[in-house]
This record gives sequence, C-alpha cells and structure tokens, in this order.
Amino acid sequence: MSSISFFLIICASALFHSFHFSIAGSNETDRLSLLDFKAKITGDPLGVMRSWNDTVHFCEWHGITCHRGGRVKKLELYSSKFTGFLSPSIGNLSFLKVLFLYNNTLGGTIPPEIGRLNRLRYLLLGKNAIEGHIPPNISACSRLTELNIGSDRLVGKIPSEFSYLVHLQLLRLEKNYLTGTIPLSFENLSSLSKIYLYYNYLSGSIPKSLGKLNKLTLLSLGGNMLSGIAPSPIFNLTLLEAFDVGVNNLEGNLPSDLGIKLPNLQWFSIFNNNFTGSIPTSIINSSGLSVLQFSSNNLTGQVPSLHRLANLLRLTLANNSLGNKLSGVIPRGIGKLHNLGRLMLHANQLLGKIPFSIGNLTMMTVLTLQNNNLVGQIPSGLGNCNSLLSLNLASNRLSGKIPTQVFEITTSVHLDLSMNKFNGSLPEEVGQLKNLGWLGVSGNMLSGEIPSTLSSCVELTNLYLNGNFLQGAIPGALSELKGLNVLDLSKNNLSGEVPTGGIFSNATGLSLNGIRGLCGGKPELKLPKCNKKNQKKSLGHKNRFILGIVFGLLGIISMVTIFVSLYIYWYKKKTKLPTPLGNFSENYPNLSYQTLLKATNGFSFDNLIGRGTFGAVYKGILHDLVETSIIAIKIFNLEQHGASKSFMAECGVLRTIRHRNLIKVITACSSVDYQGNDFKALVYEYMVRGSLEEWLHPVAIDVVEDTDTAPRLSLRQRLDIVVDVASALEYLHHNCGAPIIHCDLKPSNVLLDEELVAHVGDFGLAKFLSKSISNSNANQCSSLGVRGTVGYAPPASSNGDVYSFGILLLEMFTGKRPTNDIFSEVISLHHYVKEAVPERVIEILDHSLVEDIDSEKTDSSLMLEALISVLEIALSCSTEVPRERLDMSDVTAKLTSIRNKLLGTRLQQRRRIRADNVPATL
Ligand SMILES: *[C@@H]1O[C@H](CO)[C@@H](O)[C@H](O)[C@H]1NC(C)=O
Ligand SMILES: *[C@@H]1O[C@H](CO)[C@@H](O)[C@H](O)[C@H]1NC(C)=O
Ligand SMILES: *[C@@H]1O[C@H](CO)[C@@H](O)[C@H](O)[C@H]1NC(C)=O
Ligand SMILES: *[C@@H]1O[C@H](CO)[C@@H](O)[C@H](O)[C@H]1NC(C)=O
Ligand SMILES: *[C@@H]1O[C@H](CO)[C@@H](O)[C@H](O)[C@H]1NC(C)=O
Ligand SMILES: *[C@@H]1O[C@H](CO)[C@@H](O)[C@H](O)[C@H]1NC(C)=O
Ligand SMILES: *[C@@H]1O[C@H](CO)[C@@H](O)[C@H](O)[C@H]1NC(C)=O
Repeated sequence: MSSISFFLIICASALFHSFHFSIAGSNETDRLSLLDFKAKITGDPLGVMRSWNDTVHFCEWHGITCHRGGRVKKLELYSSKFTGFLSPSIGNLSFLKVLFLYNNTLGGTIPPEIGRLNRLRYLLLGKNAIEGHIPPNISACSRLTELNIGSDRLVGKIPSEFSYLVHLQLLRLEKNYLTGTIPLSFENLSSLSKIYLYYNYLSGSIPKSLGKLNKLTLLSLGGNMLSGIAPSPIFNLTLLEAFDVGVNNLEGNLPSDLGIKLPNLQWFSIFNNNFTGSIPTSIINSSGLSVLQFSSNNLTGQVPSLHRLANLLRLTLANNSLGNKLSGVIPRGIGKLHNLGRLMLHANQLLGKIPFSIGNLTMMTVLTLQNNNLVGQIPSGLGNCNSLLSLNLASNRLSGKIPTQVFEITTSVHLDLSMNKFNGSLPEEVGQLKNLGWLGVSGNMLSGEIPSTLSSCVELTNLYLNGNFLQGAIPGALSELKGLNVLDLSKNNLSGEVPTGGIFSNATGLSLNGIRGLCGGKPELKLPKCNKKNQKKSLGHKNRFILGIVFGLLGIISMVTIFVSLYIYWYKKKTKLPTPLGNFSENYPNLSYQTLLKATNGFSFDNLIGRGTFGAVYKGILHDLVETSIIAIKIFNLEQHGASKSFMAECGVLRTIRHRNLIKVITACSSVDYQGNDFKALVYEYMVRGSLEEWLHPVAIDVVEDTDTAPRLSLRQRLDIVVDVASALEYLHHNCGAPIIHCDLKPSNVLLDEELVAHVGDFGLAKFLSKSISNSNANQCSSLGVRGTVGYAPPASSNGDVYSFGILLLEMFTGKRPTNDIFSEVISLHHYVKEAVPERVIEILDHSLVEDIDSEKTDSSLMLEALISVLEIALSCSTEVPRERLDMSDVTAKLTSIRNKLLGTRLQQRRRIRADNVPATL
C-alpha cells in the first residue's frame, strides 16, 4: 500500500502543476477541489462523506460551510477516522477560512499549496500521521491565528518564515521529530499567546528575544535538547500561566523575584536540567501553582515553605542538593493526580494524616512516605491503589489497626509498615499477597497470633515481625516458605515449640532473640527441650553461667562472621563482577545508572512501556553529540524472587544468538543505584510499533487517546508476523547450537519494528537444553519456579513453545485472548476454534479481518482458505497431548507456504520498498 500511495502523491502533484487554475476561481473550482479532496481520502470508516454526492449542493455536504456568495468557508472534518492524505487541490479553495482536520489518521505530507489560502485563519492538522517537512510557505497564510500541526510525524526545521504570521495566537508543533533551533525571528510573533514545542529534538539555546512575546500565557519547550543559559527575559513574561522547559540541558539560576514577576503561574517545570542556585522564596506569590517540578537539577539551598500553595498537585524535588526538607501536610488534592505513577516523599518532615484521597491514585506503583511525622490511621481507601508494587510507610507515628484493605493489594511486592504504633492483630488477609517478597511490621504494638495464612505468600524472602506483642505458637506453616531467607520474630511474647524444616532448619536467617517462652527446634538454636517442666522453670545458676559462656562465644563468632562478610562485600564491590556481561560491553558502550536515569527521565511513569514478572520496561532517549537514539530498558526488580536469575538467563541467551526475528540487545547494565542497591538492566533496540499485544488489543493510553482509531493489522500483515515468529522459534529450537526454549511466548513478548517485522523478546524464562529439542522429556520450563503466563503455558511441560505458539496463532486470528472470560476449562480457546473450523470459521474471526476479507472481493475465497489452513496449524500446535504437536520446522515451512501462496511475489516487492524507508500506510 505504501508504494501505491507514495506513487499517487507524486502523480497528483505532477498533475496539479501541469494545470493552471485562476487564483480566485469560481464555485466550480471549489466543487472540483472538494471532489479531489474526497478522492484522496482512502478510508472513511464512519461514512462521514456519504453526503458528498451530486444529488446535494456542495455547500450542504457534511463538514462544509459556505459564505453567502456560495464559496467554501470552512472544511471541518475532525475526529473522522480518515485515512489517506491531504489533496494539494485544497489550495484552490480560495475563500477558505477554517481547515479543521485534527485527529484523523491522514498520512502524506502537508501540501505547499496551502500557502495560497490567504484568507485562512485556522489550520488544524494535528494528531494525524502527517510526515515530511513543514512547507515554509504556510507563512503566506498571513492571517492565520491558530496553527496546529502537533502530534504528527513532521521532520526538519521550524521555518523561520513563520515570523510573518503576526496574527498567530496559538502555535502547536509538539510531538513531532523537529530538529534545529527555535528561530530567532519568533520575536515578531507579537500576538502569540500559546506555544507548544515539547517532545521534539530541538537544540541550541532559548532565544532571549522570546522575552518580547509579552502576550504569552503558555510556553512549553519540554523534552527537547535545548542547552545554554535560560535567558532571564523569559522569566519576565507577566501573563505566563504555564512554563515548561523540563528535560533539556539548560543551565542558569532562577531569578529571585520569579513569583513576583509571574503571579499567574499554575505550572512551572524545569526538571531534568542543570539549573543551579536556590528555589526563589518569592515562588509562594504565585498562589495558583498546581505543578512545580524541580527534580534532577543542581539546585541548592533551602526549600521555601510551600504550604501557602493550596492548589499544589505535584511537587518534585528529588535529585538536587537541597538542604532542609519538606514540611507541612500532604495536600488533599493529591488524589486528583490520577495518573501519578510514583509518589516518593520519604525522609522529609511531613505532618498530619495520609489523605483519604490517596486511594484515587490507582495508577500508582510506588508510594514511599517513610521517615516522616505522619499520624493517624492508614486510610482504607489505599486498598484501591491496586497497581502498587511498593508501599513504605515505615518510621512514622501512624496508629490504629492496619486496615485489611492494605492486604488486598495483590500486586504488592514490598510492604514496609515498621516503626509505627499500629495495634490489633496482623490480619489473616495477608495471605492474599501472592507476590509479596518483603514484609516488615516490626516495632509496632501488634498483638494476637501470627496468621498461618502467611504461608500462602509464596514469594516471601524477608519477613520482619520483631518488636511487637505477638503471642501464641509460631505457625508450623511458615516452614513451607521455601524462598524465605530472613525471619525475624525477636522481641515478641511467643511461646511453645519452634517448628522444624524450612527457615527453621537453618539458624542463620532466623532471629528468635528476646523470646522467653520458646522451646525445641534445631539444636543450634540452643533452646530448652520441650518438656513441660523445663518450659516454665527458670534456669539455675550453673546453667546461666554456661549459657553466658556459650552466648559470649557465639557473639565473638558472629562478629567475626560479620567482619568477614563485610570484607567479602567490599572486596566484591572493588573488583566488580563483569561476568555474564562481558560480551555486550566489548561491542557497545557501557551505560551507567545515571545515563539510564536521565534517558528515561528518572524512570518516569510517562516512559513506562511495559511491566513483567521480573521488572518494568522503560523507553529511553540517549543523546550524544552525533545522534539521538531511542532505546528500551528493562529494569529488573531484584526484590522479586527469581529476578536475578532471570537477568542472568536473559544475558546468557541474548549473548549467544543472532536472528532478524529476535530482539537485539544493545548492552547490559549491572551497577548500583543512588540508594546503593543493586541495579540490573538490559538495554534493547526500541521497537517503534510496540508489541503485538497492543495491536491485537488496543487500549486507551490517556484521556485524549481512543481505541477505535487504532490501526488494525491486515490479514497479510498478520501472516508476515506469524512467519516471523515461527522463524524465530525454529532458529531457537533447531539452528543455534544448544537448543533454547523461550518458555514465555505470548503477544506482549512479540515486538514490531518500523516495518512491522516481528521480533521475539523477553528471554527471562528461557532455558538452554543440552539435548536435542525433539527429546520431549528434556523440554522443561519451570527452572525458576515460575511457569510461563496463564493461558499460554501448556498443561504439560514439554513442547511448551509450540503450544504457546499455537495459542498465539489462535489469538491473532480470532482477536480473543485465551484468558477471555468466555472461556473455561471445558471450552478453551482451542475448543472454541476447533468447533468452528472449517464451516463456521467466519463467525470466530477477528472483526477487522472479516472487513479485510470483504473488501478484497477478488481474493476473498483464497483468503478464507488460507485462514482455515492457518487455524488448522494453530490447532495442531495447541493440542493438549505434547506428542501430537508439530515441530517448529514443519510449522514454519507450512506457514511460509500459505503466506507465499496467498501473497505471491507481490509481498517480496512490498517488503523491499518498506525497507527503503517509505513509511507504511496502515
Ligand atoms: C455557481 O455560480 C453561478 C453564478 O453565480 C451560479 O449560476 C451557479 O448556480 C453556481 N453553481 C453552484 C453549483 O452553486
Ligand atoms: C447523497 O447524499 C444524501 C444526503 O446525505 C443522501 O440522502 C443520499 O442517499 C446520497 N446519495 C447517494 C447516491 O449516496
Ligand atoms: C479522536 O477521534 C475519535 C474518533 O472519532 C474520537 O473518539 C476521539 O474522542 C477523538 N479525540 C479527540 C482528542 O478529539
Ligand atoms: C522585565 O520587564 C521590565 C518591564 O516590563 C523591564 O523594565 C525589565 O528590564 C525586564 N527585565 C528583563 C530581565 O528583561
Ligand atoms: C551540567 O553542567 C556540568 C558543568 O557545566 C556538566 O559537566 C554536566 O554535563 C551538565 N549536566 C547535564 C545533565 O547537562
Ligand atoms: C553540580 O554543580 C557542581 C558545582 O557547581 C558541579 O561540580 C557538579 O558537576 C554539578 N552536578 C551536575 C549533576 O551537573
Ligand atoms: C476521588 O474519587 C472520588 C470518586 O471516585 C471523588 O468523589 C473524589 O472527589 C476524588 N477525590 C479527589 C481528591 O480527587
């Protein structure tokens, strides 16, 4: 398709230039240009242009408004899901005042002929997929008041000729790929009130002359590569309400009278730059401020007391060299920040209660409030934060019972409530936290018994219950927690026999100090035997003496142990451990923690592109002097049991393999973060088109985005992708030295590049096999104690990849996830398809495929035939009996032949053209 539309653009503009239209034209000129406009709209799924026919006068066509003289004044067809491109003949609508095509999926370039529309006031082409350079002669539309070409795919420089647009009030160029500098001539845009340039690749400094635009209320330059000193005149624009220069390389100090000069400020953001000096105290005069972002600069001095800023919703200060700390209460309005991903306010002097509205932050993954002076109860609404991975409220003065809702956040991995004044018992509901690795409630006033449901927290590695008033026996079930490394029960009122097995069989991770009533257990624990006499009787003098010696010796031994461990720790640190990373690092730059932090904007929520069992994946931008590259970074959550092994597994696999359908790793980073914790990450090529999951099941990303406009994959594209994935698996299983099984194949692990070529990623569960893959006994996937994903993991462990691949095929052509609610043990996705193939196949196909087949009238029976064959392959891959499953070599051969039969050689041509960088029209 891309080649065709590219060709059409050339033809159309050639045709256009070979005719001569008179400048003002006539009403007939208008009619012809509208018809040409319509002809270039290749897709109109909502049927918006149905009324554009000869039985109706063009002034009555949907979206058209005419002047009294019968000439077109407005063309307003926004949010219409159009595909195609903008016809150059639009330049003949000489009386046009408004061209409003915002929020469609138009591709192609902006036709320079638009420059002929000298009556144009509003030009809104933003939120499309328009490419190429901005034609400088748009500046000939000298009466423009609004120019919106943001959120497109524009490249090149901002034309300096824009300075002729002296009536321009709104300029939106954000979210494109624009390079070069902000034109100096912008100082002439004397009517400008709002300017959006964020998320481009602009460089150079901010022109001082922008300070002359004294009508500016909004200046948004964030997420570029601007450098140099931020010129003081821009802090002198009295009407400014929003000022955003975050994520650049700017330097300089903030003027001390900032808040006095800019009394209307609501949004002030300079984060991730190189600003120095202090935060001006005058900022509190800008009393309407709701967002203040200072983090990741080089700011010093004290933070002014900000409690007068009653509307403050977001405040970031981290990563500076600021002295005194935050004080005051957490504003109630915090609950309005629905998209907030992390709220980290630890180690400050916060007072008062945790606001109830915290429960509205349902996207929050990290909440750290430890080391403050918070009082009152934990609001039960916190239970609504069901994305939380880490919750730390330690070292405050919180009290009351721990609400059971806290134990309903089943995503929790790290939960620390230590050193508060909580009372009541530890609720049984704690057993619901299946992902919990770390639980601390030490130093509270908890009473009652230790709930035996803790044994359901199968991922627990660290459990701190010490320093409470817990009583009763230690539940024997705790010995079932295989991964438990640390169990601290010291200083409680526990009694009875110490269990054996599990953590209790290994005295190193176990602490039972300061508990009088215990007996039994392993001899190393040196507890009295459990006969009833002994339990109550106090120890005699002699025994005490002996015990004293024993404990003394133990003390010396443990000191020596600690010393030796510290030494080993220090030694390891000094000598670093480059082991499994060596091979990447030789070929690629070693990226430091700092670089990755900067590249991902402080691992900001906005950059989060995915989350898996062992960590999160962020998008990052690396700048160096020569070029800017986009990368994907997987950060391993090392608190998650098995994550470290997974990192090693993935390093091991990715180091040894190369295939065009496997994700390419750029480098690995094994380092320590700013808190001194181990930090492990893998850096991959960024896959522009996201994962197959997002294509099969698009979700709204934010309030202005919607799912229906999301482009869908055609049958041909799907066939290309399945052949790609099959080739990758065939390579892993049969053609790369020691066979490798992926063990977690699913749509979210299949990533698509610019040309929609599929790359299999996420080798965190992968396994090398020593024997041939055809030996079905060897094919085990559960070495990390984690099986693949529910729905995709096979019922029996062998030939697992083939099974997962079969499920993936079924999902790709039915559009239904194996975990869809309509399926059950009895009627699985497999059965659902099996029942329908071949006669009723059309009923189970993904809707958009049915449309695809319908629209290709000539080929539709061939297409259906191909689909049936593919589904039959899918069914034999996903059968429950491993022996009956096909081998990946057979699967690849069959799928390739189905695809080639359907697409013939045309496909090969198309792919070559795509690779020549003519962007695909979807
Ligand atoms: C175009 O203008 C002419 C002259 O004013 C008029 O007679 C004719 O009806 C108009 N045609 C349309 C399609 O409006
Ligand atoms: C032309 O548009 C009118 C107005 O929407 C509509 O009623 C009519 O059916 C259309 N005619 C054709 C042939 O599509
Ligand atoms: C974009 O268009 C779609 C489809 O008509 C619509 O649902 C959505 O609300 C529009 N978004 C914006 C921001 O206008
Ligand atoms: C700020 O504006 C005032 C008057 O509007 C002017 O006198 C002053 O020089 C300006 N300061 C800067 C730094 O441009
Ligand atoms: C900040 O400035 C210092 C000194 O001028 C420079 O070395 C450093 O690279 C700058 N950092 C950033 C992130 O621009
Ligand atoms: C912060 O400033 C100091 C001195 O002004 C400089 O040495 C240091 O490199 C700066 N830090 C960063 C991160 O730019
Ligand atoms: C929190 O959400 C509830 C409804 O879900 C709403 O009534 C309330 O105003 C919200 N609070 C805040 C602070 O946004």
